[in-house]
Amino acid sequence: MNMIDIEKIRAETPACENIIHFNNAGAALMPEPVFAALISHLELERDIGGYAAAERASEELHAFYTEFAALLNAEPDEIAYVENATRAWDMAFYGLQLQAGDRVLTHASEYASNFLALLQQSKRLGFAIDVAPSDASGQLDVAAMEAMITPRTRLIAITHVPSQGGLVNPAAAVGAVARKHNLVYLLDACQSAGQIDLDVQEIGCQILAGTGRKFLRGPRGTGFLYVAKHLHNDIEPPFIDLHSAEWTGLDSYEWAPGARRFETWESFVAGKISLARAVRYAREIGLPAIQQRVTDLAASLRRELADVPGITVRDLGKQLCGTVTLTKDGEPPDELARRLEGQGINVSVTGAPYAVLDLGARGLDAVLRASVHYYNTDNEIDRFIEVIRG
Ligand SMILES: Cc1ncc(COP(=O)(O)O)c(C=O)c1O
Repeated sequence: MNMIDIEKIRAETPACENIIHFNNAGAALMPEPVFAALISHLELERDIGGYAAAERASEELHAFYTEFAALLNAEPDEIAYVENATRAWDMAFYGLQLQAGDRVLTHASEYASNFLALLQQSKRLGFAIDVAPSDASGQLDVAAMEAMITPRTRLIAITHVPSQGGLVNPAAAVGAVARKHNLVYLLDACQSAGQIDLDVQEIGCQILAGTGRKFLRGPRGTGFLYVAKHLHNDIEPPFIDLHSAEWTGLDSYEWAPGARRFETWESFVAGKISLARAVRYAREIGLPAIQQRVTDLAASLRRELADVPGITVRDLGKQLCGTVTLTKDGEPPDELARRLEGQGINVSVTGAPYAVLDLGARGLDAVLRASVHYYNTDNEIDRFIEVIRG
């Protein structure tokens, strides 16, 4: 495994000099090469116009597909550019041919927008939503989930790493169950892409959605979708345009080949190019090394928090990642977040309305979320602990 050159990485992330950024689960800091790719394409658009600029950048645009294919162990034509993780997930989910009487399996850690989409479609179409229980650690209980599968179960839709905690769900074990029962498996990897080494073959998901701005360190307004080739013809994208399909006759059209059918003609070209650069940046460092460092930093943050009076770490699960959630007696999460921000430390707060089945069910109104990335340091953790103590 590569050693990460932290000094170089931090030098390429100039904001590290001024702030302690523990909001990587919200939006991470872009590294200079990613920022440069973004700005230089915008400059090209300014100088020669958006269409000519896209033509000149055809190689960089093509790299979007090859970079994500390499990141996920997929094929380039299984990758689509979508403006964010929610719409990427939607483009696949709303295209599945679910019917009245079908059943969909999910878990309490499911992302709020995905669960809302499940609710909306279940009301429209009449399928049932089964929420698989958690095991004693709080992660999805795979055996209990398998026991809930019926002949009408069609889909497993779960979130790898939730927004509201450091839990990593056992995605590959779920994949093995999906394969055994021949179910479509839709994985939300929005919080795991960029901090966890993902391999869609190993996980066994046929659909995976993610965003650019979080642990991948890309710009805002960017996302991606993976759909396994054998499913392309089974999913009818909910929207169509002249990029995702060809108008072949007066009353006919044909879907574009590959995952392009999930895209739209108009897109944030500079964002797409710079997200591809962000993926290359992560791959150059090495995902296994990133995963190791992020996990280690978060583990030492949790260890130090355990010694602070009044602090409760709220993360569930057996395998943990870079997101650390906590509450402090006598200081509500939003007040604590404001105090940290006043000291130059970025964090975020997740409230129960964003996680009704999780935080709501645990009786937590909100948690403070401190999410570290590989460019954070032990000194930053020490400073965070100092401020948390008050
Ligand atoms: C687990 C998870 N899934 C999906 C999303 C949605 O991502 P986006 O805002 O890019 O649509 C988020 C955003 O916080 C998330 O945490």
